[in-house]
Amino acid sequence: MATHQAEFFHPRRLGHVNLWVEDLARSERFYNEQCGLTVEFTEPDLIATFLGTGQTPHDLGMIQTTNGIDRFGRDGILQLPGSIGQQVGLNHLAWELENEADLVAGFKRLQDHAIETDMTVDHQVAHSVYLFDPDGNYNEFYCDTVQNWREVLHGEMDLITSHWDPLSAEPFVEGRYERHPQLRIVDAAPLHPQRVTHAVIQSANVDRLVDFYTRIAGLTVVARDCEVVYFSGSHASYNYNLVIVPAPSAAYGHAAFQIADESALDSAIEKLSDNSVFDVIELPWKRSLFLTDPDGLTSEWYVSRAAPRELRKRGDVALLLAS
Ligand SMILES: [Fe+2]
Repeated sequence: MATHQAEFFHPRRLGHVNLWVEDLARSERFYNEQCGLTVEFTEPDLIATFLGTGQTPHDLGMIQTTNGIDRFGRDGILQLPGSIGQQVGLNHLAWELENEADLVAGFKRLQDHAIETDMTVDHQVAHSVYLFDPDGNYNEFYCDTVQNWREVLHGEMDLITSHWDPLSAEPFVEGRYERHPQLRIVDAAPLHPQRVTHAVIQSANVDRLVDFYTRIAGLTVVARDCEVVYFSGSHASYNYNLVIVPAPSAAYGHAAFQIADESALDSAIEKLSDNSVFDVIELPWKRSLFLTDPDGLTSEWYVSRAAPRELRKRGDVALLLAS
């Protein structure tokens, strides 16, 4: 296995996944009422909703597709150019960093190496640097700036995001992520997820992405199995935060959410409507429910099992689902 030195960022974990959706209200209802993610705050002018478990300010963000029309944040910042977000799918993966000093140091190193970043913004509870991976997947590297984020972001918000100059002030060095998050569940929903743990993406050039996600994104390769690569951040309670699956072309796979135990998963399967259930798989290393959302995007709701993962023993389960 090639070794790659993290040279730019050093994330703790996957903070959230953000999707482009065709009908914001429809997708919000699905992820709230079926999947059990709490609506933490919305941004009507951006046509965006942010849902979660409480682990971070949101586990899952969603923004309605742009249809080619620019959307602006605070102070006139062009936040969502109409040239992006024309189709449903992944908007970005967001990586939580330890503190602002790490974020700014990574940003400066990118500048020193003439590696292009897309934008740097202030989200009121986070500062963020955005850049694309070699397959065109968009990545956000951020640090929390406010520990008690629910005091700042709740309900319907006016525009949240403005420009941020990473070099404008001395960056803070303390971790401002919430150490004792207040988790919320949606009682009436079939599913009660505990947290988003990882995202799965497909690539025709896995080695090129491994270089990006180790050297630039600063994740660690924790396993390779059947040419599938598993990465983690520094947060010890996650087995992995990103999975790259070889495929004929680049594509978003799914986001994966952890469920407390198998009985909770079984009861959710009983309650869910058949038309949203894409698949239920049972393997020695996990039991997973795959759902199809109103846009046809897949998500995974799973329980880990004790047996070691051996993808060769996945039987007729597709590699993308078995990973
Ligand atoms: Fe984000």
